[in-house]
Amino acid sequence: MKSKTLLLINIGQLLTLRSTAGGPRRGSSLSELGIINNAAVLCVGGKIVSVGTTKEALRDPWLKKNRKQVIEIDCAGRVVLPGFVDSHTHPVFTHPRLIDFEKRISGASYEEIAEAGGGIRSSIDGVRKASKAALSKTVVAALTEMARHGTTTVEAKSGYGLSLESELRSLEAIGAAGREFPGTVVPTFLGAHVVPPEYRGRSQEYVDLVCKQMLPAVAKRKLAKFVDVFCDRGAFSAPETEQIFGAAAEHGLGVRAHLGQLGETRLGPLLRYQPASFDHMDHVNEADMAALAQTDTVATLVPGANYFLGLTRYPDARRLIASGVAVALATDYNPGSSPTLSIPMAMSLACTHMKMSPAEAIAGATINGAWALRLAQSKGSVEAGKDADLAVFDVKDYREIPYWFGANRCVMTVLNGVLSAPLISQTF
Ligand code: NIG
Ligand code: FE
Repeated sequence: MKSKTLLLINIGQLLTLRSTAGGPRRGSSLSELGIINNAAVLCVGGKIVSVGTTKEALRDPWLKKNRKQVIEIDCAGRVVLPGFVDSHTHPVFTHPRLIDFEKRISGASYEEIAEAGGGIRSSIDGVRKASKAALSKTVVAALTEMARHGTTTVEAKSGYGLSLESELRSLEAIGAAGREFPGTVVPTFLGAHVVPPEYRGRSQEYVDLVCKQMLPAVAKRKLAKFVDVFCDRGAFSAPETEQIFGAAAEHGLGVRAHLGQLGETRLGPLLRYQPASFDHMDHVNEADMAALAQTDTVATLVPGANYFLGLTRYPDARRLIASGVAVALATDYNPGSSPTLSIPMAMSLACTHMKMSPAEAIAGATINGAWALRLAQSKGSVEAGKDADLAVFDVKDYREIPYWFGANRCVMTVLNGVLSAPLISQTF
């Protein structure tokens, strides 16, 4: 896949998300999209080289001279924005969890299903038995579908193998998929997703296995950028999470955690490890919000999980934003709580159920997603020097992206300068 020299012109609204202050977006800056009307973007060698109006681009002497070598894309008044950064996904699984789905419809809760042997543990068998090639094929299919919905950067977690061998295989599958995918994949080791059945009642022994065997092997093979922990009721405690964060730090890996989905965990001791992100955050108290606001740790909200689990309560995005916490938005794509690959769907849920404005939802799924992956230097906005990651939506106004829920209005993506060609021929 070679990146081409691309010139996108006649963009109705270009949402640049160009930098305001340093650091992730907070408070009112979350609504600043940096819109240019009648815009153009030039991409060369997988990077964005200039951003401005169509008029300026067509007057550019270099472009005038080199127009023949440039692939020109007439966006015909459509909306263009940075490719979405989906900073929380679990794509390495083999089966949908349809029994869990039906049980929940009949009234069982996520925790009740997990205690009865369903939930995360019921995804283990399939992954342990699958080959690396089969897992990688599944991940590539998911990444491709994500790109069709405008996503160009994906964080991908292991976490359904939960043995040394199957966790390494899951991460290798993510690595192989990432090499095939023209976008960017950030691998995360989630060996501490739940305690696997063979360690039932011996949680500390499993945590020791994660810290002393799995994590060093992952670091040695350079299979992950981050280590994640499901720190919640029925999964891992805060002290266990601290132990895992400590081991990750020793091996030079960044940390992040699933936190506050089912119950509240105090943030203070974990913040010392400077996590890139705390995800879910349905339960968090006022004092912890204030503490979080003083850090660059992003609160990644995943309303797809609340929706799919049939909850009426959603994370309090308004209070988080008012407190100055940097909020991002992700799909949490997984077979148990959020089987959606669509960031526009997550944005729609953020607007309708968490009362985020369309602008805040877009910033959460682009520039703040990039911050949540420590990639803001190269991802999340349309600025000269950044990676050529773009999404073209067949709408006239950006607010239509979360408005038309359940339908895919994305008609083209540019991933590190590579065009998603099949979509172009259909639409342009
Ligand atoms: O983010 N909460 C923990 N992990 C996932 C669910 C995984 C599953 O149910 O398979 C989540 O919601
Ligand atoms: Fe998750």
